[in-house]
Amino acid sequence: MERGINTRCLHLEETEGKTDNYGALTFPIYQTATYAHPAVGQSTGYDYSRLQNPTREHLEKVVASLEGGIDALALSTGIAAITLMMELFKPGDHLIVESDLYGGSIRLFNNVSEKNGIEFSRVACSNEDVESHVKDNTKAIYIETPTNPMMNVTDIGALAGIAKKHGLLLIVDNTFLSPYFQNPLKLGADIVIHSGTKYLGGHNDTLAGFIVTNNEEISEKLRFLIKTTGAGLSPFDSFLLERGIKTLGIRMERAQENAFALAEWLKKQDVVTKVIYPGLPEHPGHEIMKKQARGFGAMITFDLDTKEHAIALLEKVRMIKFAESLGGVETLITYPTTQTHADVPVEIREKNGITDSTLRLSVGIEDSKDLIAELEVVFKCI
Ligand SMILES: Cc1ncc(COP(=O)(O)O)c(C=O)c1O
Repeated sequence: MERGINTRCLHLEETEGKTDNYGALTFPIYQTATYAHPAVGQSTGYDYSRLQNPTREHLEKVVASLEGGIDALALSTGIAAITLMMELFKPGDHLIVESDLYGGSIRLFNNVSEKNGIEFSRVACSNEDVESHVKDNTKAIYIETPTNPMMNVTDIGALAGIAKKHGLLLIVDNTFLSPYFQNPLKLGADIVIHSGTKYLGGHNDTLAGFIVTNNEEISEKLRFLIKTTGAGLSPFDSFLLERGIKTLGIRMERAQENAFALAEWLKKQDVVTKVIYPGLPEHPGHEIMKKQARGFGAMITFDLDTKEHAIALLEKVRMIKFAESLGGVETLITYPTTQTHADVPVEIREKNGITDSTLRLSVGIEDSKDLIAELEVVFKCI
């Protein structure tokens, strides 16, 4: 029987009963670049830390177990994970990608992958006919659900059906929900991406990224690629990520509880013209989320009535930080137009509905009454 996710955040079953490392509860930081060999042709199992390091490996096993994958690779950032994943493709390959994605992913595809000969079709996977975009050279479908920042929800199982029918890989960036709320591999995806900087690390103090797969052949290719391209996560950052993961469940639950309170409160404010949170029953993806996820997360996107009000809010918040990122214990507010999505061509931003009065809130684990109290004061004086 599979253990519960909170238990899997804390304990790696395969290492139990072993008293290596003096029985230390915390997996040590093996801060080493290289490893001495017992004899020619022999190895301790580790040769050089770019290939593998015990601390990174331990973290990778924990993340693989959380996502239900056979392998997870820990990288220096989320975008390093996506960059490595793109090395699975070659010039002339075509990918169908969700049109509303984290701006850094769009920038990578537009400026690096296209230069390397990869073609893209940008499709709103939550409401367009994805199958009609499949071509002879299509190799994969790449999505986020919910998307960043417009919180569009795609039915992962249905898309996996289309992917399987056409022999395509389904790749899901699961950053917004974390493995605590959603496991795309279990719904038919082949590869899961995480910015570990967000909920997995959880403390706004460390950058990291993950690629998880349940496919032996993909795992082998990725292991070759991480060795060859070299963006593996450092031992110290691996330790920080593993420490963050221990409290993933309670952080996600608490942040979600706060998000519900804030979404309901925001809806009642005069200056707020739109609140997009999949936990609200009126969100078009609410029912799909109920089916494929165990929660709705803690990301809220909302529109104010004017750009001036949006800017005034960003400049007046104090406890809530005007900062780029998400998924940490502290509540952050982001302005996609000049921050996360600044490099996204205007026509794509407009198509996705991102305006200059759109704000994105990553709800943290403070007392919700204090978050509301701060916004109440700010709304009164803008
Ligand atoms: C959904 C999503 N994927 C990937 C990334 C990139 O991760 P990182 O900033 O760790 O490189 C981000 C960053 O905000 C993100 O929001």
